[in-house]
Amino acid sequence: MTPSDTVLSQPQSLAQGSYQSSLRGGDLVSLSDLSPDAFFEILDIAADIKQRVKQGEQVHALAGKSLAMLFEKPSLRTRSTFDVGMFQLGGHAVLLDQQFVGIGKRESLRDVASNLERWFDGIMARTFAHSTVEMLAQHAHVPVINGLTDLVHPCQLLADYLTLRETFSDLSGLHVVFVGDGNNVVHSHIYAALLAGTTLTVACPEGYEPHADIVAAARDKGATINISHDPRDAVQGADVLYTDVWTSMGQEAETAARLEAFAGYTVTADWLNDLAPTGVFMHDLPAHYGEECTEDVLYSPRSVVFDQAENRLHAQKGLLVALLG
Ligand code: CP
Ligand code: NVA
Repeated sequence: MTPSDTVLSQPQSLAQGSYQSSLRGGDLVSLSDLSPDAFFEILDIAADIKQRVKQGEQVHALAGKSLAMLFEKPSLRTRSTFDVGMFQLGGHAVLLDQQFVGIGKRESLRDVASNLERWFDGIMARTFAHSTVEMLAQHAHVPVINGLTDLVHPCQLLADYLTLRETFSDLSGLHVVFVGDGNNVVHSHIYAALLAGTTLTVACPEGYEPHADIVAAARDKGATINISHDPRDAVQGADVLYTDVWTSMGQEAETAARLEAFAGYTVTADWLNDLAPTGVFMHDLPAHYGEECTEDVLYSPRSVVFDQAENRLHAQKGLLVALLG
């Protein structure tokens, strides 16, 4: 091996400032904050970094930068992927558990925000009340990212649409059918359908529809959002069958009532035969087997669930670079 071979064999490194973004310095509180161009700008940066890293390149676009990760609720994927994502981008993430921070108990939300912005280049927060993330964004002069609230889960849908772009050549005309509770994930699905021009059908029991004002606002802007109470009919010919837990974090007291209300909404393997020939199964996870789906569905050849989980990492790296780079 000659000295020049040694140099050539070093991984290439893409440094800070390599990506232009119209979103720099902004927040991601909800996908409703984004234009279609901004949504696809994040996905484009994510796809580019993903490809470079898979080819052995280093992308240290956030060298020396730090992210605070504030959690009021549990997490596997969000916590892991923001932490690993910051590391892979040359930066650093610090976990701040609400048990220790005590927002609104030990210290006011405004004071927490005013401290964090002095030490960190960005804040990611998973909270119960959506207003907590909104107020963090209002008070902190660094980008604030919503890592899930009771109302929305924007980072999940970034990963999901990165997955859909990898799975289907064309998003327009795609029919996504969500079966289950009209929850935070569904609200972000509605905004994503509007941004990407996909058709969304939400099949849910009566009384568990997504917020009517979110549906109406999306429809007013041109989105095609259908509500159904017949899940088996709704999934006929679907390109995507998506489900999520029936009882979200914070709703545990309603578990028994929800188990009863969602009878007939368990996605089993035979449901997959009703999809389009290229149709896929998606779930944001964690899964509660025997409730919203069975284990064999999650591990079936139709499932892209673990691609979604992997893409949490890549999509959020795109988002972090767009906002903090
Ligand atoms: N899908 C998702 O957000 O997973 P976690 O709750 O584990 O972060
Ligand atoms: N709807 C679920 C999503 C978990 C990632 C919840 O809020 O618990």
